[in-house]
Amino acid sequence: MTATLAIPTLHGPTVTLRPHTAADIEPVLERAVDAACRRWTVVPLEYTREMAREYVEEISRERESEVSWAIEREGRYAGTIDLRVRGGAQGHGAGGLGFATHQDARGRGVMSEAVGLVVDHAFGHLGYELVQWEANVGNYGSYKAVWRNGFPLPVAVPALLDHRGVMTDGWHSTLWRGDPREPVVPWDDAYAVLRRQVSAARRPG
Ligand SMILES: CC(C)(COP(=O)(O)OP(=O)(O)OC[C@H]1O[C@@H](n2cnc3c(N)ncnc32)[C@H](O)[C@@H]1OP(=O)(O)O)[C@@H](O)C(=O)NCCC(=O)NCCS
Repeated sequence: MTATLAIPTLHGPTVTLRPHTAADIEPVLERAVDAACRRWTVVPLEYTREMAREYVEEISRERESEVSWAIEREGRYAGTIDLRVRGGAQGHGAGGLGFATHQDARGRGVMSEAVGLVVDHAFGHLGYELVQWEANVGNYGSYKAVWRNGFPLPVAVPALLDHRGVMTDGWHSTLWRGDPREPVVPWDDAYAVLRRQVSAARRPG
């Protein structure tokens, strides 16, 4: 039997990661109907308060397949970050990141810090060997949050992701335990590579 994964509270300099509570339903709903979330994630387009309530109830439980944290900044809900079990065993555990910042909290380093805390937890407490990140090709802000934490320049994979029924080109990057946890190249250089990948993509996000 696989054990469920705990949702420990993790503290960073400006954010705290904690289990979701009923108080997060309203801001989760606001985030879910935001244009950027609809564009870059597969959140249902017809999103209701009841769906937000069910979602928060589900992700606040300890599960086998995934750990979800609410990100809190200055006492307010600022986003959600997930660590999904990707497989591996006997020291070869692997996790995949998923995240979204509430629109009122974007551009303040919230997700960059949250990714660092989750990666620490994955390599430390969970003993994972690697953590992966994927996004639709063109989601520069998503890559910047993981770039800050050492994720290598992504590869662009044709038709990697099912985006509401349309196979969409995806960026993929894997961070291995022991990799430096700082940017692999200056952002301007990374951005130039990403822009070329976007230009060359057949079906960017
Ligand atoms: C992507 C997202 C999670 C980033 O969250 P955040 O808390 O704003 O992230 P951070 O502030 O830590 O870092 C984002 C960085 O990307 C930059 N950025 C955002 N959009 C950008 C764009 N289109 N082009 C270039 N840079 C961009 C921000 O300016 C910021 O950089 P800075 O810190 O140097 O100013 C947030 O924009 C979001 O929730 N988007 C919608 C959902 C989504 O895309 N989720 C990820 C799916 S893979």
